[in-house]
Amino acid sequence: MPTDSPFPEMKKSHTMAHTGRPWRDYKPPPSGPVWAIIQGVSSYWVLSAAIELGVFDAIESLGPTTIGPLADQLSASAPHLQHVCDTLVTFGFLDQIADVYELTETAERYLCTNGAASMAALVRVAPGPLANWERLAETVRTGRVAEPIDDDPAAFYRPLVQATFPTQFRAASRLGLRLGWARQPELRVLDLGAGRAPWALAVLEQSANSTAVVNDWPGVIELAMHTVADRGLSDRVEFRAGDFHSIALEPATYDVVALGHICRTEGDERSRSLVARAFNALKPGGQLLLADYFAGHERKHNPFGVQMGLTMLANTLRGGMLTNEQVCGWLRESGFQAIRLIEPIGFNYVYVASRPERTFE
Ligand SMILES: C[S@@+](CC[C@H](N)C(=O)[O-])C[C@H]1O[C@@H](n2cnc3c(N)ncnc32)[C@H](O)[C@@H]1O
Repeated sequence: MPTDSPFPEMKKSHTMAHTGRPWRDYKPPPSGPVWAIIQGVSSYWVLSAAIELGVFDAIESLGPTTIGPLADQLSASAPHLQHVCDTLVTFGFLDQIADVYELTETAERYLCTNGAASMAALVRVAPGPLANWERLAETVRTGRVAEPIDDDPAAFYRPLVQATFPTQFRAASRLGLRLGWARQPELRVLDLGAGRAPWALAVLEQSANSTAVVNDWPGVIELAMHTVADRGLSDRVEFRAGDFHSIALEPATYDVVALGHICRTEGDERSRSLVARAFNALKPGGQLLLADYFAGHERKHNPFGVQMGLTMLANTLRGGMLTNEQVCGWLRESGFQAIRLIEPIGFNYVYVASRPERTFE
């Protein structure tokens, strides 16, 4: 009888070449993956609490610190705060040496409110209404979401687009460097479902004398107005409030059309129609930017895309996972060519596709 290994996951000998699946030969699998999911809930709430308490910003202002001064600054219970900090150390967001805590680079960049790529505000809004997660089984049973964000889009999207702007502006700006907007003056841009207009703004800031039409719902578009005004670009932007499925769009007018993170809430049919609208609005030779989180063809690679799709399924009327195959299908059937998938920053993908200069019937 073979002896059990203290680390079953390190068994090298039990490969698929043997009879049966590796774990099923004679050793039980570890329970780690189940615990990882269970503790995922507490991990999420520890991070949310740390941001709400201001732990990262406080350590940034204090510098490396023991728990006493940190607890004083945050008016928090020192033993409770210490446990939170110890947990943040296990996540890799704090370093701890001899009871002194300091920020890791990940925390400085993503979790401080003024971090270069701050996601601090995103953590609480990204999962959508929490009640929908508690009712996920019911949603799956009935096929209906209890509180779809579509019922009150402004209430959900206002905080969301505030929180996602730094990341999406960075993605759009990096994409512009790749596509050479700085070498192309006077671009005409259409940004549908723009939020705070990160995609339009990246073009306006890189392409001299470019102009934009920025669309979103009334109640959200005001945020784009403020952001554009703050950057001194109001004279180059027309704001067109309303539903992006039905607002008037001029044919063959735009050099760039951005569909930034809007398709995953729309479902197959409506996304296909949005892509076709974008195609018609582009000049021949113009480029579509379709940014989203995509899953692989077989829906099992790129777990980030699969999970993001599930967040849409849990919270929206029609949304869900987008596969690369599906999106390429929409692009090709609308007539787009030169389809490329670019990752301007980690985890963020953008399809760039061109309306052909000439179509041959
Ligand atoms: C996830 S946010 C993306 C914002 C921005 N494009 C970006 O990439 O960061 C989706 C945006 O689409 C807007 N939106 C959703 N449905 C819309 C519709 N039918 N018409 C106009 N805007 C819509 C929302 O208000 C929100 O601002």
